[in-house]
Amino acid sequence: MTVPRQVQERAAWLRAQIEHHNYLYYVLDAPEISDAEFDRLFRELQDLEAQYPDLVTADSPTQRVGGHPAREFSSVTHRVPMLSLNNAFTEAEVAAFDRRVREALGLDVVEYAVEPKFDGLAISLSYEKGLLVQAATRGDGYVGEDVTANVRTIRAIPMRLNGADPPALLEIRGEVLMLKADFERLNRQQQAHGEKLFANPRNAAAGSLRQLDPRITAGRPLSFFAYGVGAHAGMPPCTAHSELMDYLERLHLPVARERRVVRGLEGLLAYYRSIGAQRDALPYDIDGVVYKVNDLGSQEELGFVSRAPRFAVAHKFPAQEALTVVEAIDVQVGRTGALTPVARLRPVLVGGVTVTNATLHNQDEITRKDIRVGDTVSVRRAGDVIPEVVRVLPERRPADARPYDLLAAIGHVCPVCGSRVVRQEDEAVARCTGGLYCAAQRKQAILHFASRRAMDIEGLGEKLVDQLVDGGIVRTLADIYCLDVPVLAGLDRMGEKSAQNLVRAIAQSRHTTLARFIYALGIRNVGEATAKDLARFFGSFDKLAEADMETLQRVPEVGPVVAASIVNFFAEPHNREVIAQLRAHGVTWEEGGPEGQGGALAGKTLVLTGTLPSMTREEARELIEAAGGKVAGSVSKKTDYVVAGSEAGSKLAKAQALGIPVIDERGLMQLLGKSG
Ligand code: IVH
Repeated sequence: MTVPRQVQERAAWLRAQIEHHNYLYYVLDAPEISDAEFDRLFRELQDLEAQYPDLVTADSPTQRVGGHPAREFSSVTHRVPMLSLNNAFTEAEVAAFDRRVREALGLDVVEYAVEPKFDGLAISLSYEKGLLVQAATRGDGYVGEDVTANVRTIRAIPMRLNGADPPALLEIRGEVLMLKADFERLNRQQQAHGEKLFANPRNAAAGSLRQLDPRITAGRPLSFFAYGVGAHAGMPPCTAHSELMDYLERLHLPVARERRVVRGLEGLLAYYRSIGAQRDALPYDIDGVVYKVNDLGSQEELGFVSRAPRFAVAHKFPAQEALTVVEAIDVQVGRTGALTPVARLRPVLVGGVTVTNATLHNQDEITRKDIRVGDTVSVRRAGDVIPEVVRVLPERRPADARPYDLLAAIGHVCPVCGSRVVRQEDEAVARCTGGLYCAAQRKQAILHFASRRAMDIEGLGEKLVDQLVDGGIVRTLADIYCLDVPVLAGLDRMGEKSAQNLVRAIAQSRHTTLARFIYALGIRNVGEATAKDLARFFGSFDKLAEADMETLQRVPEVGPVVAASIVNFFAEPHNREVIAQLRAHGVTWEEGGPEGQGGALAGKTLVLTGTLPSMTREEARELIEAAGGKVAGSVSKKTDYVVAGSEAGSKLAKAQALGIPVIDERGLMQLLGKSG
């Protein structure tokens, strides 16, 4: 059947639109249309192709999930081998690398292209005349596996390269990985479906890419970053690696926004430190940084030794995992009564920090990993988060180790207050039913109330709260406002001076904002962001306290679970009483949303990135919010300004791509009317 001209044109237009919006969404992270609009375009193309099968092309976006399950992957011989990198673990090893390079090239200072070392799987993508024709894993470096059908499902990988004059052949080398946020989401989903959880994003990416059924891969959120080129023909001439990366970026391939060009050993080490500091905030896992001699002629001159280039090296971060022994399992009671099992570990160094405890989350997690007292386990530390047990080494298990049963271990009662413990069917955690009768819950509620982002009572810390609650001095949140210097000064580790400071801090906390006050109450499922949303929506505390389920769910981001928590909180007479007492003790707040009215930045949304010269980001946020502005975590078309400090990364790049005004700290102060 011949396909009418208009239909052909419409299909071509739809494909270009879909690729364009895929690129905005998956590569730039800056969508311009809604998911529904995208789906409409996609469905229109699918319908046309169903009506005119001759219309289907290999690069059509509808073909991303077209393949059938394979019995095995066929092998692919790489035109240019996919080699590995030598590692450096110390500054001395990096210095030795730089010295060898300088000596071999006869240079005093070498220019390097530097980039993150992605912790994923190496992949080679072959584009012929701009069309993705094959994708292969690294394999042994010479022969890999053909995973084309799976790779087509990765939306960040273009089916067709951008630009009018694509090279005859271009092999893109890069890394397939899973973003941390996608990994968390996938694991939650796996858990909900009773399926196996992945240990980390790398395993999840590997498991997803090596699926024989591409339909499974299609349901897994994989990403990709390019870091080099293999075989090529007809590519425009390039003299430096950095130029090559810029070229790949123009082809709409995802490349690391954190890539830089630096000079000499000092430049390398400064980059290592800077990326190390950003590591936890990066959207993907990295295990180090990669240094490459930037000049491609010099790269060729240096060549390879055995299976690794002489012109590049991977500077690895210290291991973040280590083996140790579970000496005991304790149970902690949280603010909402949740019982959390905690492994007491034989102290071990993980990535430079001594670890003695690891959270075990809940009984299901313990059962799934079968963690027992006496077990040798691998513990992992990722940034600031509480260390976790990754797995048990069953071959090292003592003969008398018994499976752990949390409820049996505590005799079905709260280890702190002796109240009944229940585990609701739909919940993963067991909870103490003691409420504020339970000293542990009361202590946590007080600490939360006093915390910096809540009432901000400096000096009311854990040790003190323990004494105040155990001594029966503070029974409710309102009792905090009865504390005076003589009582406080009589406590352990409290002098006259610190007692005075604390009393002053308590007095100052009396005047706060509506959002802080709502957050400070510690209503279940109401975090800081929700508290701000509620303050913005209701503008008055009493309206919030009286709101019903229906009204609450009109607040953006508030669903039935959060709404029910709020209704239940205010239905509890004890809570109403404490609030009345707090008011009676002079606690007041400004009604209205966190933005206030009529400030210099009223209605404006700002994004902070990088290190500002004279204030922390937290301080900048407070200034902006005080002036009525809102601080968002990521750049979008709705952003009014990006405030960039030094070492600003992807947010800055995105602001530039979207044409959003970028200002520095001085510019911010000008906006706030605080400069001369
Ligand atoms: S360049 C000739 N750059 O690390 C080898 N590799 O340990 C060129 N990797 O197999 C590799 N991030 O999978 C390069 N920015 C980056 C990288 C990177 C991760 C992986 C790659 C390679 C392995 C070598």
